[in-house]
Amino acid sequence: MSAETEGERLAELAKRRGYFFGASGAYGGAAGFYTFGPQGASLKSNVEDAWRDRFTVQEGNFEVEAPTIMPEPVFEASGHLDGFDDMLVECPECGESHRADHLIEDATDIEEAETLPIPKVESLIADHDLQCPTCGAHLAGESVDSFNLMFETNIGPGSSTPGYLRPETAQGIFVEFPRIKEYARNSLPFGATQIGRAYRNEISPRKSIVRTREFTQAELEQFVDPERDEPALESVADVTVTLYPAAEQEADDGDYVETTIGAAVEEGIVGDAWIGYFLGIAQEWYGRIGVDMDRFRFRQHLAGERAHYAADCWDAESEVDGDWIEIAGFAYRGDYDLSKHSEYSDDEFTIFRQFDEPKTVETAVVEPDMSVLGPEFGEAAGEVKSALEALAERDPDAFEDETVTVEVDGETHGVDIDVANFRVETQTVSGEHITPHVIEPSFGVDRTVYTLLAHAYEEDEVGDETRTYLSLSPDVAPTDVGVFPLVSNVEDLVDRAEDIVADLRESGFSVVYDDSGSIGRRYRRQDEVGTPLCVTVDRDGLESDGPDTVTIRERDTARQVRVPVDDLVAELRAVERGDQPFDDLADRYELVESPTDA
Ligand code: GAP
Repeated sequence: MSAETEGERLAELAKRRGYFFGASGAYGGAAGFYTFGPQGASLKSNVEDAWRDRFTVQEGNFEVEAPTIMPEPVFEASGHLDGFDDMLVECPECGESHRADHLIEDATDIEEAETLPIPKVESLIADHDLQCPTCGAHLAGESVDSFNLMFETNIGPGSSTPGYLRPETAQGIFVEFPRIKEYARNSLPFGATQIGRAYRNEISPRKSIVRTREFTQAELEQFVDPERDEPALESVADVTVTLYPAAEQEADDGDYVETTIGAAVEEGIVGDAWIGYFLGIAQEWYGRIGVDMDRFRFRQHLAGERAHYAADCWDAESEVDGDWIEIAGFAYRGDYDLSKHSEYSDDEFTIFRQFDEPKTVETAVVEPDMSVLGPEFGEAAGEVKSALEALAERDPDAFEDETVTVEVDGETHGVDIDVANFRVETQTVSGEHITPHVIEPSFGVDRTVYTLLAHAYEEDEVGDETRTYLSLSPDVAPTDVGVFPLVSNVEDLVDRAEDIVADLRESGFSVVYDDSGSIGRRYRRQDEVGTPLCVTVDRDGLESDGPDTVTIRERDTARQVRVPVDDLVAELRAVERGDQPFDDLADRYELVESPTDA
């Protein structure tokens, strides 16, 4: 069967070979939820491990794991309760809900329609006479509403403690900043990472695992002192990138900018050095795990497109089926999140910044005489005292007259200057409390998996047959090695193959053993799930005069070399780690025809 688009081919392969499929199928399923089968779960966890290695371990960051359900005040503070909305239009005939901005993008040349105001979206639906994709009914005149994407729940019995499934892993890091900073010895810059599930009640989930209602994010929150901290930009300055800046998107003849990270930051195309740094390491990481870099770009958000917290944002986008998919976002969040949590909670979301030299500062102090304020103001005396203290900090000049005036609950009170007991003290201070700024690379793991599968899908001719294979990078391939006895009913071949499987597993390889069907079919099965190397135990290898040998087969070229069994683990490891190209093996060992079981 030949499917038409990359997406269709992928969905078919994913289902047939157990990468992923719609969840809860036994009960009719629920749109936007997917189960990763054995191959997919393994590929996905390898992507997560590769991300953890690059963005947590190599960067010296701290990984945390926060709950996926958080109480309502977290999302009041973060702004998600008010601002995490998409535009919804409901069909008057079939009742199906649709994302209004997506309908416009699908039917017109307009891109990023989510940046448009709702009245404009309503008029575009009418002007283009857009119809319901499900039943064809006309949508002109239907209202477009804001729909909050968070899943709500109740924490504990009853309904008094509302909670939400987190729409991003980030908030779990922000609310724990006061504790995480202790591990960084209260010193900037430092990064905290988290890999975990996020939930969004998407209006119309689509493109299989590209837009789902439950997905995995890998996020890094980099906390910095905006006046002092610089990234190690020189380490990625020469990395070449394809950029699509906002100005180019808005220009009539706008085009991509092919440049290096160093030049992009120096010329201000990428406005912030930290964002530039993370674009550089992301570019290299995506290349290493197998994204086709000819189908990859960084696109800057247009002004109206940015999330409520972001001052600037670039997306990493991959191309599949001619469409660009956002696979990661790199946002400059400023001090938005920590300031909000500081404002809404009782916790301390700052860090102490030491001055280079201690400073002498003058501080205005009041110590009101409560034996006078008490009888004079009664119950309001405490508030009058607080108002005097706040005024001294805000406006010391207000204490120059005989009487100082403060307002409490809308009422004006005069306090004798001697009773206020005002003075200016000189102090030496060693530093100040600042709210760190945040730069956030946020990766979608499911969309990365989708891209890797789409970009790895290959067809070629081997012998007289058309073969399908996934040219997955050894860094992420679900299985490292397939091991086969050439024929299944010969005891010494099977025993030897089983010993090799045990040795390889003990050495940390993930191995599939297969003795069913012709050797050609077994190779095809592994090719189709992207296993980079296969080892075959055959009679020639066990009966020759010298040491016992087996063949190693490379997936992409189907070349095979004959290698001594004693060297097998070392040779496989060198190829798997990328320390040795298969060409080196082909130079050092005898190239052989595929063993045949005929
Ligand atoms: N903390 C920032 C944040 O959540 P985002 O751009 O909304 O930013 C980050 O999400 C990444 O998560 C996206 O680039 C995308 O890869 C992934 N993502 C977002 N919504 C998704 C969905 N409904 N299904 C699958 N992946 C999604």
